[in-house]
Amino acid sequence: MFIKPRKSVLKLNAYKPNFGKKNSNQLIRLSANENPLGCSPKILNSINFSDIHKYPPQHSKDLIFEIANKYKLNKKKIILGNGSDELISIIAQSFLNFDDEAIYTEYGFLQYPQAIAVAGGKAVVAKDNDLTASVENIIKSISKFTRLIYLANPNNPTGTFLSKQTILKLVNNIPRHVILVYDAAYAEYMDEESYTNGINLVENHENVIMLRTFSKFHGLAGLRLGWAYCSEKIVKILMSVKGPFSVNSVAIKAGIIAIGDKNFHKRCFEYNKSNMKWMENELNKLSITYQKSFANFILIKFSGFKGVNALKAESFFSKNGILVRNMKVYNLPEYLRVSLGTINENKLFIKTLKKFVNNLQ
Ligand SMILES: Cc1ncc(COP(=O)(O)O)c(C=O)c1O
Repeated sequence: MFIKPRKSVLKLNAYKPNFGKKNSNQLIRLSANENPLGCSPKILNSINFSDIHKYPPQHSKDLIFEIANKYKLNKKKIILGNGSDELISIIAQSFLNFDDEAIYTEYGFLQYPQAIAVAGGKAVVAKDNDLTASVENIIKSISKFTRLIYLANPNNPTGTFLSKQTILKLVNNIPRHVILVYDAAYAEYMDEESYTNGINLVENHENVIMLRTFSKFHGLAGLRLGWAYCSEKIVKILMSVKGPFSVNSVAIKAGIIAIGDKNFHKRCFEYNKSNMKWMENELNKLSITYQKSFANFILIKFSGFKGVNALKAESFFSKNGILVRNMKVYNLPEYLRVSLGTINENKLFIKTLKKFVNNLQ
C-alpha cells in the first residue's frame, strides 16, 4: 500500500460503540451512558431552526454566560467544544510534542489514549487499584517527558471516584508544567461530600483543566456539546487549535435551556439515584458481583459462576433486544457495562438477566 497514515495512526482502531445493527430503534440501548429521561422538555418545545443557514458564533457568549452564572465562574476561563471529546483531542494536539508523554489510568476512558496517539504523543498507563485510579501510580509514572495527565472522576467505565483529598495529593505532586485534565463528565450525578467537581482545582492551580459534557446528565449527546474550565492562557491556546465553528447553533440554544432547567436537573438526579439503588438491590438478590458506581452506569461481573462469560451474556441480552457494552477493549473481559435505563428498561434488563442465569442451571 502506497498511501500510509502517520505511524502513530497506523495502530489505531476506530471507536466502536455498541448501537446494535438493524432495527436499532426497537432495541433497548443500555450501552452508551445516555440519559434515559431524554433532555429537558423545554428544549423540545422551544428550539427553532430559523438561523441554521448562518455560521454559529465562534465563542458563544450567551451559553458561556449561562454556564458561568450557574457555577459562579469566570467567563474568560470557559471554552466550549463539540462534545468533551473534541476538547480531549485538542488538548493533546495543543500540548504534546512528538513523543511527549501523557498519562492515563489503566481503566480510564478510551478516548484518552486515542487522542494522545493521534497527537503523536506516547500514552503511559498508570495501573489502577481495585478498579480505581491510583494517584500513587500516576505520580510514579511522571517522567521528564510527561506533559499531560488525563483523569476521569468519576471514571467511565468503572464508575469509581477519588476523593478531593486524594485529588489534591495528585495536584500537589505534579510539576507545574504538567497539566491535569480533570474530566468530570459525570459530576452532576455526584452528591458525595468528599467529591470535587474540579472548579476549585482550576481556581487554585494554573495547570488544571476541568472538562464537562452536556451528553450525560443534560441528555444532549446527539448535539455534541461540552466545555472546559481552565486558565485564560490555556483557553487562548485551545482556541487557536479548535475548529472555528465546531459547536453548532442548535447545540448552543439547547445548552442554554438545559443549563437553566432546575426541575429537570432534580428529576434526573433523583431518577438516577433511585434506579441505581434498585439495580444494586436486584443484583445483590441474584448474588451477582458489580462495582459500586457513582455515575449513570454500572459494571457487572460475568464470571465465576457456571462457566459464564461476559460475551455470552452480551449476546444473550442482544438476542433479547437489549444492548449493553462488553469491556474487551478496556481489558476487562469479565465485565459488561450497563447504563441505567428507564424503570421499565431496567426491569426488563433484570428479567433477562434472570433468564440468562436460569438457562445456565
Ligand atoms: C469520562 C468521559 N469523558 C468524556 C466523554 C465524552 O463525552 P462527549 O459526549 O461530551 O464527547 C465520555 C463519554 O462517554 C466519558 O465517559
